Amino acid sequence: MNYQEAKKKLEQYGQEHVFQYYNELSDKDKEQLIEQIQETDMEVLSLFEQKDKLQKKGKITPLAAMQLDEIEKNRQSYFNMGCSALKDGRIGAVLLAGGMGTRLGSDEPKGMYNIGITREVYIFERIIQNLFDVVEQTGTYIHLFIMTSDKNHKQTTRFFQEKNYFGYNREYITFFKQDMAPAVDYQGNILMESKSNMSTSPNGNGGWFTSIIRNGLLDEIHQKGIEFLNVFAVDNVLQRIADPVFIGAVLEKNCAVGSKVVKKANPNENVGVMCLEDGKPSIVEYYELTDELKDARDENGKPVYNFGVILNYLFRIKDLEKIASKKMPFHIVKKAVPYMNESEELIKPKEPNAYKFEALVLDMIHMMDSCLPFEVVRNKEFAPIKNKTGVDSVESARALLKENGVDL
Ligand code: UTP
Repeated sequence: MNYQEAKKKLEQYGQEHVFQYYNELSDKDKEQLIEQIQETDMEVLSLFEQKDKLQKKGKITPLAAMQLDEIEKNRQSYFNMGCSALKDGRIGAVLLAGGMGTRLGSDEPKGMYNIGITREVYIFERIIQNLFDVVEQTGTYIHLFIMTSDKNHKQTTRFFQEKNYFGYNREYITFFKQDMAPAVDYQGNILMESKSNMSTSPNGNGGWFTSIIRNGLLDEIHQKGIEFLNVFAVDNVLQRIADPVFIGAVLEKNCAVGSKVVKKANPNENVGVMCLEDGKPSIVEYYELTDELKDARDENGKPVYNFGVILNYLFRIKDLEKIASKKMPFHIVKKAVPYMNESEELIKPKEPNAYKFEALVLDMIHMMDSCLPFEVVRNKEFAPIKNKTGVDSVESARALLKENGVDL
């Protein structure tokens, strides 16, 4: 892209101010800004006008989860099916580590956070160790794709290298960067981080599959014979990855996607629950759950919208490919975004000051034809770290790790 083309792109989206300082910049900075303009997805800006319109949900009906008792009955056969798929190399894993982790308040990538007390225990290390359980069970390495973003790629890759990939076979790890979207002020103008840099942020965890494609990894995935990808969040330190029993159950039920779920801790817990929406699998967010839905019971008197998602999904690749050309919905969310003010100082606000555009992996579920919600024991598999203290925090995750015998 040259200057004229970049200018045209900015004009198209009403963002000419991005070039306000262009003439003051060094040649290198000019080049860098043009490259950033080229790489940034500005199409999302056209959604800004609709930000106050609530996405209307379709008709919500229950989607039965496979619950613990049923899983227990079939554990051995699911395990065998899962192990054989793993041994055949049909399963890969995708670690979503492109997020900014703003709530945790660390400047480093979240996975580099040390949750140890008497020794160093990094979040990334926990994830690799959890994956090792399955490597040992099956005698096979599972290919791990690690999604980073422009903001944390260098730090993440350097950290893994320094730590010698926590003993994992390097040949089975591929890093890739996710796409970036601009952050805008409340009037819809792209914020600048410096004279030569727009404030951009990763375009949400739902961007993972398009980013896989854009990075040319789909061919590699096909060559390796990988048919399913287990996508999971960086911040759940009890995450079971490539769990053979889960894989076996999804294979046996022949579903396009499987979703690990936990029973809600209480009816008002802030977690999205699995359901059908207009007959297709979907997730209804806690703030969308009406009292009627909260009170709905099955024939045994149990609540039907009671299984919350924990961001651990097993996607069948051929079904992902079918939806790859479809547009994902974007969510416009208020966040605290660093920006350069009129006095040309960099401000790092503590409170939200801007809108970001994010695609969410949960919207991909609604694009699939079938989904198996698969119940897991909360205290054994769900210890998310979102905050420093309180709910879903370093403190609560440490307690759960100890409960599971992890020495901190
Ligand atoms: P969160 O929704 O918790 O977002 O991510 P976050 O950016 O990590 O944290 P906050 O909201 O700023 O505090 C859930 C998972 O999705 C990944 C995160 O790394 C985490 O594993 N994610 C999120 C991405 O990979 N890319 C994104 O653009 C956003």
